[in-house]
Order: sequence, then structure tokens, then C-alpha cells
Amino acid sequence: MENTGDEIKRLQSCINDLISVLALPAIWSGSEPSQIVGTLLDALLAMLRLDFAYARLTDSSDGPPIEVVRLGHRQHPSVQPQQVGQALGRWLTGDQAASHFVVPDPAGEGEVSIASFSLGLQDEVGVLVAGSRRADFPTDIERLLLRVAANQAGIGLQEARRSGEQKRIGEALEQRVAERTTELTRANENLRLEIAERKRAEAQLRESEERWRDVFENNPTMYFVVDAAGKVMAVNPFGAEQLGYNVDELVGQPVLGVLYESDREAIQRNVAQCLKQIGQSMSWELRKVRKGGSVIWVRETAKAVLRVNGPIVLIACEDITEQKRAEEALRQAQADLAHVTRVTTMGELTGSLAHEVNQPIAAAVTNANTCLRWLAGDAPNIEEARAAAMRIVKDGTRAAEIISRIRLLFKKGTPERELVDVNEVIREMIVLLRNEATRGSISVRTELAADLPQVMGDRVQLQQGMMNLFMNSIDAMKDVDGTRELAIKSQRAENEQLMVSVSDTGVGLPAQQTDQIFNAFFTTKLHGTGMGLSISRSIVESHGGRLWAANNSPRGASFYLTLPTKVEAHE
Ligand SMILES: Nc1ncnc2c1ncn2[C@@H]1O[C@H](COP(=O)(O)OP(=O)(O)OP(=O)(O)O)[C@@H](O)[C@H]1O
Ligand SMILES: [Mg+2]
Repeated sequence: MENTGDEIKRLQSCINDLISVLALPAIWSGSEPSQIVGTLLDALLAMLRLDFAYARLTDSSDGPPIEVVRLGHRQHPSVQPQQVGQALGRWLTGDQAASHFVVPDPAGEGEVSIASFSLGLQDEVGVLVAGSRRADFPTDIERLLLRVAANQAGIGLQEARRSGEQKRIGEALEQRVAERTTELTRANENLRLEIAERKRAEAQLRESEERWRDVFENNPTMYFVVDAAGKVMAVNPFGAEQLGYNVDELVGQPVLGVLYESDREAIQRNVAQCLKQIGQSMSWELRKVRKGGSVIWVRETAKAVLRVNGPIVLIACEDITEQKRAEEALRQAQADLAHVTRVTTMGELTGSLAHEVNQPIAAAVTNANTCLRWLAGDAPNIEEARAAAMRIVKDGTRAAEIISRIRLLFKKGTPERELVDVNEVIREMIVLLRNEATRGSISVRTELAADLPQVMGDRVQLQQGMMNLFMNSIDAMKDVDGTRELAIKSQRAENEQLMVSVSDTGVGLPAQQTDQIFNAFFTTKLHGTGMGLSISRSIVESHGGRLWAANNSPRGASFYLTLPTKVEAHE
């Protein structure tokens, strides 16, 4: 009866315990795995009066396992869960869950009986170990309670893990969403900036296009764009209009069509050169033919640039017809003036020139008389007569040469370019002025370089330039005492040039006015025109050379002129 009473009591206490165990999930619902295990172990330790309860949970994210231990009052209180775990380790491997062993007490002295249960399915979550020094541990009821508790905890843990997982995923998702949002915001911002930038660039482009269209369409400069084959790709309305065409009539046509025929070859050469040196600009002058056939002079500045389909030539073109006309008129006026002064000078020289011509004529007369004498008589001396006749021929030739030189200087012609021997020019002028020099008791000394290169130029102009210098020197020495010497020297100079110096022992350059002597109409002479040096300088400069003056020491002046010997002189 008593047994039955005990039995009932045991069963009642068992039911109470079971109810407590079944109530556990309500307590730990929503808790972390470590809290669930803590609650479980506390409950079991109290309920079953255990000496220790231990649980180990595997970590879902491969971290170290979570270990929790609860100790009975007889145990060492300082024992750590890991120590217990290590001591129990060898009994917790393999499929030994839910079994029962007697092992050395992992947290105290002596031995304990332990019962272990897996938490969750196949150790997936962890293991629960309950230990008691009681020899009958675990009884059937205790085992039942432990298993039910372990199951409850397993479910709870799995749930906690799942919800933890869900939370993690949720958080990760939220994190991703936040990141993406930030990224998108940033991308949006960039896009906005890019669009604004593009809009600004487009506006700028439009503005610059308009500006350039203005320059191209409305500028009073002729613009041409020509391809490498010489075809007009574009021309501005002004350019077409200046040639009497409209734009459509020129685009697509060969540009040669509007060039003056004799300029075509040179321009083709220039354009070819331009295409060879991409990016460098070149200028040239040429004539173009308008639709009606009239000719205009233009200066073109061209530059080749590379485009996707190859090089093109950009040409800006300016009408210089008027300028050319003015230049031509100026040249003509200068030539006329030069002619007038030449004639004046020659007029002044009449006496000297007549003497110069008279000399050979007088010699011819003398020789003719001699010849006649040799032929007269019974035995005429033919040999001597022939020799005299030969001298007459020479004298005649000399007189003729002098006259032709004088005639040349009187001649009024257009400037002609030829290779000129400057030494010869000097010698010829000395011949013409020799008598003038003699009259002034002036000795003429020359030092002419034998290897002097020729220059490209106008012989008559150079003669005149030289003559003006010689005449000035002769004038300057007229009234001085002491030596009167005119020294003329020619030599090669650096940079493919030659230099001629004309030095005298005259009065020297007018003091304080040396920089004015080359000005037109500047003269210190009573009957001077003041044109001599101005004409000489313009002649030398038109040949690409320079003319300048300096005083000599102790007295006199020197004039120096340089002329280029290689390049073709400028018009
Ligand atoms: N060799 C020289 N020595 C000193 N002064 C000179 C010499 N050559 C020129 N001049 C000065 O330069 C001035 C200008 O010379 P330029 O030949 O131009 O005119 P000009 O000789 O006075 O007149 P024109 O040439 O018509 O006879 C001269 O009047 C003179 O004062
Ligand atoms: Mg003079």
C-alpha cells in the first residue's frame, strides 16, 4: 500500500516535472541559444538535483562551439564550461548520445554517472550532458524527463537558430539594400552631374559652333577648305562672292580652276609642301581668276591638319590686288625717279664722259694717221700698217663699249634679273668715273676678291647704286687737303653674302645728321637732290641686301653694302 502511495507520489512528482519541462519553451521563446541552454540547465539541475549539467552547441557559422555548465553545490564553483567539455570529450564523440556512463567527475572529486542527449537532430545543434553522483542515475523517469527536456530544447534551439539565421539574412538583406541604395544614390548624383556637365558642354559647343560659323560665314576673309586631292570641300560665302561665284558652284570643284594659269604649278608645289608638314602654316601670294575672267592678287595662309579621312588644307585668303597695284605704282615711281637722277648725274658727267669717249677716238685718229704713213711711199710697210689698223679697231671698240654703257644707263626699262658679277659692275663704273676722279686729283684703289660669287639682280640698278656711292665720295673729297683716295673693296661675307665697301678720305658724314643721310631729299650740297643714297639703299634692299655708313678715322667716310649671293633676290 505504501509502495502504491510512493508510486503515486513519484508519478505525481514526475508529472509535475514533466509539466515544468513542457513549460520551458514558453520561458525561452524568442531567446538566444545560450539563454535557452542556460534556462534548460538551470531547470534540470534543480529538478533532478544534479551535480552538473553541461551543454555544448555547435556554432552555425563555423565559430567555436557555445559551452554552458551549471554546477551543483558540491562542485568546484570555479570550473569553466570548457574544462568540463574537455573532460567529457571522449564520451561525447560518435553516436553515444542518450547513453549513460560512469566517468571521473569533471568538476569535482570521485566519479559521476552521466547521461548524454543530443540536442536537435543527429548532433546537429549540440549535446546535453547531465551528471550525478547517485549510483542509480539516471532513473527511467529521469531519463524520460531529460529526453523530453532535450527534445524541447532542441526544437527551441533550432527555432532560435532559424530565427537567428532569418534575422541575419534580414540584416544582410537590409545591409545590401542600404548599400545598393547608397550606390544608386551616388550613381544618380553622378548621372545628374554628368547630365548637367553634358548640357553645359553642349551649350558651349553650340555657342562655339555659332561663333565659328560667324567667323566662317560672315567674316570678310576668304576661307577655303581643300582636300589632299585639291578639291574644294568648303568655301565661305565671302570667299565665293569675291571670285564671282556662289558657294555651291565651287564646292566639289578642283581649286586649280580659280587659279591664274601660270601660278598653278607653284601653288600645287606649295600645297604639297604644306601637306608634308602637317600643322605648320605657310603663306604665299598668287593670282586668282574671277568668274568673269578678271584677275585678283591674293595672299593665302594655309595649314594642313589631319582629319579622320586624311589631311585637309585650311586656307585663309586676303585680297591684296590694291596693295599690289600700289606697290607696282611705287616701283614705277622709284624707277622713274632713279632714271631722272641717273640722267641728271649723267648730265653732270657730260664733260667727263665726253673725255672718256674722246680718248679712244683721238687714239684711233692718231693710229689712222700712223697707218696712212706706213702705207705711203714707194715701199709701204704693210706689217706696221696692219698693226696700226688693229689698234684702230681696238680703239673703236673701246669707244663703242663706253657709249653702249652710257646708253644703258640712260635707258629706261623695267628691272631685269640676271646673274651679275659685282666686280665687273664696279670696274665699269670706275671706267665711267675715271676722268671725274682724275679731275679731282683722286686716286682710285680697288681690292676686288677674285672668288666673288655672282648675285641675282638688275645690272643697271646695281651700276647706279654703285655710281651714287662713288659720286658722293668724289664730291666729299673735292675740297679737302691731303690725300684724296677712293678705295673700293669687295669680299665674301658670312651667311652666303658678299660685301662691298666704298671708302674715301673726304669731309666725313655730316655731324649729328648721320642717321638722316639715307632720307630722301636730305642733302648738304648746294645743287644736290638728296635722292642718291635713298635710291641706292632701296636698290640694295630690293636685292635683299643692306646699305649703311660709318665715319673713317682719321677722316672720311665708308659705305658698306651687302648682297645675298645664293637666294633669289626679292622683287
Ligand atoms: N661719302 C660721303 N662723305 C660725306 N658725306 C656724304 C657722303 N655721301 C653722302 N654724304 C652726305 O649724305 C647726303 C645725302 O647724299 P645723297 O647722295 O643722298 O644726296 P646728295 O649727294 O646730297 O645729292 P645728289 O645725290 O642728288 O647729288 C649728302 O648731301 C652728304 O651730306
Ligand atoms: Mg649723292
